Order: sequence, then structure tokens, then C-alpha cells
Amino acid sequence: MSEIENHQNLAKAVARAMKKKGWEIIFPTINIEEYDFTAVKGEIRAVVQVKNWKRTVGVPQIRKFIEFLKLPMGKQFNRGFFITTSDFGKAAITLAEQKGNKPIQLALFKNKRLKILTPNNSKDIKIATNKDGKTYIGVFTCKGGVGKTTVSAHLAGALALMGYDVALIDLDPQRHLNVLLPEGIYLPRKPPNLGSTINVFNYDEYDPSFKEKFVICDCSPDFQNNPPEIMEKLNYCIIPTMLNPLGLNKNGHVIVSTLEKIRSLNKNAYLMVLVNSLYNEKTTELIRVLKKEYQKLFKKLETKDGRFRFIDPEECAIRFSKQLFYWGSHIYMGGESELAFKTIGGRCLPKEDFLRLVEYLEESTQIGQFKLL
Ligand SMILES: Nc1ncnc2c1ncn2[C@@H]1O[C@H](COP(=O)(O)OP(=O)(O)OP(=O)(O)O)[C@@H](O)[C@H]1O
Ligand SMILES: [Mg+2]
Repeated sequence: MSEIENHQNLAKAVARAMKKKGWEIIFPTINIEEYDFTAVKGEIRAVVQVKNWKRTVGVPQIRKFIEFLKLPMGKQFNRGFFITTSDFGKAAITLAEQKGNKPIQLALFKNKRLKILTPNNSKDIKIATNKDGKTYIGVFTCKGGVGKTTVSAHLAGALALMGYDVALIDLDPQRHLNVLLPEGIYLPRKPPNLGSTINVFNYDEYDPSFKEKFVICDCSPDFQNNPPEIMEKLNYCIIPTMLNPLGLNKNGHVIVSTLEKIRSLNKNAYLMVLVNSLYNEKTTELIRVLKKEYQKLFKKLETKDGRFRFIDPEECAIRFSKQLFYWGSHIYMGGESELAFKTIGGRCLPKEDFLRLVEYLEESTQIGQFKLL
């Protein structure tokens, strides 16, 4: 049977399962690429997309679905169903659950049955851990102001949105995390789950017996000031950089030497260079040229070290966003500590990007080694 026929049969089987649950099903009269059918129940007019996939559905696919619901073609719907025969990642489920968008329901279709997924019934993320069961992530930099503190805090935020408690360790003598989140963050969750917490510690205040499953370090730019006993424990090291020509010229070799220093203390960690403040959502010619230059710079290291990767910004990057730019305004506005995770007009770029970053860490771990470019 051809793939198209297969897909059509699958869509029909899903429609039958939904009909049994009281949905009225309307198949489009012409073949539409964007969705499979409409399901109506009372006031609900849902668009249904069915995927006959083997791969796990991730953040980029959910992002695309959220976008579709905003297009003129998506305006007629007030809900979306994304249904697959494969599976969903926890980050994708967390993104679909966010308020501010039209409600999106994710479901698995297996053995002719539909199973709706929520963060509460989704599987744990598959991530590297230490013997103590915790995952340690270091965020490094070669120069100030590239987003080390922003990335540390919001990566913690993405993990907390997924239901994990996170300890943020402030190793940078500037103590920005302590200034920005002195009383930490509490993210409530739907009962019966408890909310998740982000707590900030100085190195001497942190004890590995604390409850947090994730430990994220905002590392000192002065490499030797980072305690070696924590450097050895890191499962992941992230070096944010900006995709800009001067940044590359001035900092390229410093990034390489930072990576070498980390590696001399830690043979196992996944090391990755992450593009922050990516300016354009679309791939412009300039981004393409810069990306090539960066890839050239890191090629040698990637060939030598199977656990080092310059993350292709088209796969995963932190985009420039005003929310991140103005992050910290709570200090001046007299409010409580917060992260830049407010949904505005149905979107929150930081939330999408940092959930994708967690997913990227998971993907890297499953491959074991990065695929060579
Ligand atoms: N993706 C982004 N979009 C917009 N603004 C950003 C982004 N990332 C970081 N910024 C802004 O850039 C500035 C520097 O970021 P941040 O303080 O996180 O960098 P840092 O590397 O920790 O710097 P430092 O060395 O001073 O500790 C901040 O004003 C922050 O709000
Ligand atoms: Mg900082």
C-alpha cells in the first residue's frame, strides 16, 4: 500500500474512533495538505492532524501547528488535535499545554484507540545523569553579555515548566542570578501535582543532598575560578555565542580554548555552542554565510571530539526577543522575581526556544555521540 493510502486509512480510522466519542466528522472535499479533517462537538470546532510517524513529535512540529491555527485557514477552528502513531516528547507536550493559544490536544493512536496526553501522564525526559541521579549543566562564556545568566535561568525555567525542581548555582562573581532571582521562582502546576521550584545558591550554600533533580551553573568567565569538583560532574556544558561577524572574529578562538579547558577536567560531558539572540526567524543569506564560518571554525574539534557540537541554529537557537531583552525589569518595577515566559498574542519565543533546548539535550543524549556534520 502506498504511503498516501496508508495515511488516508489511518485518518479514517482516527475519525471512526472520534465519532464513537460523539464527534461529528467532516472530511474536506478537496485534498488539503495542512490538515486531515474537522471534528465538531457543540461549540467546539477542532482541526485534526494525523501523522503516521515513527519519530517522536517534538517542539518544532507543535510550533508549526500553533502557527497554522493562527493563519487565515486556521481561524475557523477553536481547537486543534495533533494525533500520531509514534510518540510525543515531554517538551512538546509542555509547549502544547501553554495558555494563550487555542487549546491543543495531543493524542496517541495505537490499537485503534486514542489516548490524550498531558504533561501529567507523559514519560520522563531521557537525559544524562550522574551517579547521584542528578543532571548537572554548566553554562560558560568567553566574554560578558552573551546571555550566560539569561540562558541559565530560562533553561531552568523550561525544566520547571516540565515539572522538575531546579537548583541554580551562581558561580559568577558578579552574582547576577542572586540579584535577579533572590527568592527563587515557584511555578504552580495543575493539581494533584505539586508546583516546581527554582532556587538560587552560591557554591558554598549548595549541598548535593538537596531535592533538585537538575543543577544548572552560571559559571565564572574566569575558568580557574570554577570549582573543579563541580566541573567534573557536569553532564552538559553550553557556551552561548552570538551569530555575528565581530563576535566570531573576537571570540572564536576563546570559545575553542574554553572548550579545551572544560574537556581537560571532564571527558564525558556533552559540549555545545548555542547561538543566542538570533535576530531573524527566517534563514537569511547572511545567517547562512555566518553559520558556514562558525561551522568551519569548529569542524576540527567536532571531528576530534564526538561529544562536541556547534548547534545548527536552524535546529535549535535562542532567538532575540524583547522579553529576554527586558528580563529583569521586575527589579525596577518593584515586582517579584520572574522569568521572561509571558505569552503575548498567543506566543512566547523564550518558552518555545528553551523547551526546544531541553529537547535538543535529550536528542543529543540518545544519539550518544553527535552525528558529524
Ligand atoms: N535572546 C535574547 N534576546 C534579547 N536580549 C537578550 C537575549 N539574551 C540576552 N539578552 C540580553 O543581553 C544582556 C546580557 O545577557 P546576560 O546578562 O544573560 O549575559 P551574561 O553572559 O550573563 O553577561 P555577564 O557576563 O555580564 O554575566 C541582558 O541585558 C539580556 O537581557
Ligand atoms: Mg551573567
